[in-house]
Amino acid sequence: MLTIPVRTAESYEIFIERGLIDRSGQIIRAVAPQNCRKIAIITNRRLSELYAGRVTATLRELGYEVIFCLMGDGERFKTLRTVEKVVGCLLSQGLGRHDLIVALGGGVVGDLAGFVAGTFMRGVAFVQIPTTLLAQIDSSVGGKSAVNHKLGKNMIGVFKQPRTVIIDPDVLSTLPQRELFAAMYEAVKYALIADSDLFELLEVVPKTASALLSDRRLEELIACCCYIKADVVSRDERETGERKILNLGHTLGHALETVTGYNRFKHGEAVGYGIMFASSLAKELGLITKEQQDKIYNLVRSFGRLPSLDGIDSGVLLGAIAKDKKSVAGRAVFVLPNGIGKVVIRDDVPIEVLGRLLNRFLEQGL
Ligand SMILES: NC(=O)c1ccc[n+]([C@@H]2O[C@H](COP(=O)([O-])OP(=O)(O)OC[C@H]3O[C@@H](n4cnc5c(N)ncnc54)[C@H](O)[C@@H]3O)[C@@H](O)[C@H]2O)c1
Repeated sequence: MLTIPVRTAESYEIFIERGLIDRSGQIIRAVAPQNCRKIAIITNRRLSELYAGRVTATLRELGYEVIFCLMGDGERFKTLRTVEKVVGCLLSQGLGRHDLIVALGGGVVGDLAGFVAGTFMRGVAFVQIPTTLLAQIDSSVGGKSAVNHKLGKNMIGVFKQPRTVIIDPDVLSTLPQRELFAAMYEAVKYALIADSDLFELLEVVPKTASALLSDRRLEELIACCCYIKADVVSRDERETGERKILNLGHTLGHALETVTGYNRFKHGEAVGYGIMFASSLAKELGLITKEQQDKIYNLVRSFGRLPSLDGIDSGVLLGAIAKDKKSVAGRAVFVLPNGIGKVVIRDDVPIEVLGRLLNRFLEQGL
């Protein structure tokens, strides 16, 4: 079993192993509050049918009472309305402040359950069992949790670290192929931020779902990403500085998601475009060479065809970039590769350069 420590105010460990879901009870018992009797699994119907039975069996064996709160499937359910329903479900089944919540699902379930755990009775213990590749390498680690407001994504949130993260790569076998590969762009992000070896690993891992899922390097890939995220978060839990580097590819990525109403791109796919755009900017500003830019493009492209950019207006996209949460006084902030395995944060990209590259980007898809 691979174990990765996360050194935040309340430190914890991430465990990675195939088949681990069947031993999740023991791991949860080791981190549960002493008086914990009830465990609430927050999940959606699909995941409940696929995996909740296995988690429940290991918890019941240890004497826990297991209760369920199901939420809708999809980003549109990551709202305060769902929080209220889930809290109602927890209260009506008597979850107490010494009990524990398990988030069983992708980033949507994890973010919502984290928010509930951070606010229910002013905070109860919780554990992440991420079931998408994106959640396994990114959203389940680091303690950011949020729900959406109609005026913006992730606008209402709290920092709430889990007591542990239980990663079973085998559960990815039921994940739709598009979801699996959309997460690979986040892995490319980690490689560019901190790890040129991970970059090389990503170049050689299989590019079809069945081959990737049965490849032993999958655990290594997940572990490398978790390690980098845990390392960055351990130094800057509340994103006052360094943690911002995790936003590589997200300035353009979020803008693309916003202007297409969140229904053309998977989040990771938008980040894939964002990474290509960041490397174009980096090349333009002399931070990387043409060869490095080509290497990055080739890696991004190797994970399949990204959805088209047709019909996206560069002026509208520039407007969305300026409104990004990360912008400072209207100036867009970009995380840019500075070689492979290192990044810099820049808020001084000339608007003329930005506009020119954006036009080229939209015309040629880069
Ligand atoms: N908190 C953070 O640090 C952080 C970081 C990145 C992203 N996020 C958030 O994560 C969310 C996206 O998460 P996601 O990409 O995991 O999407 P998701 O949670 O919507 O899951 C994608 C789809 O896959 C299904 N699914 C999940 N696991 C499955 C499995 N093993 N088998 C079959 N189907 C499965 C889900 O039901 C869903 O339909 C966004 O809301 C984003 O804001 C949060």
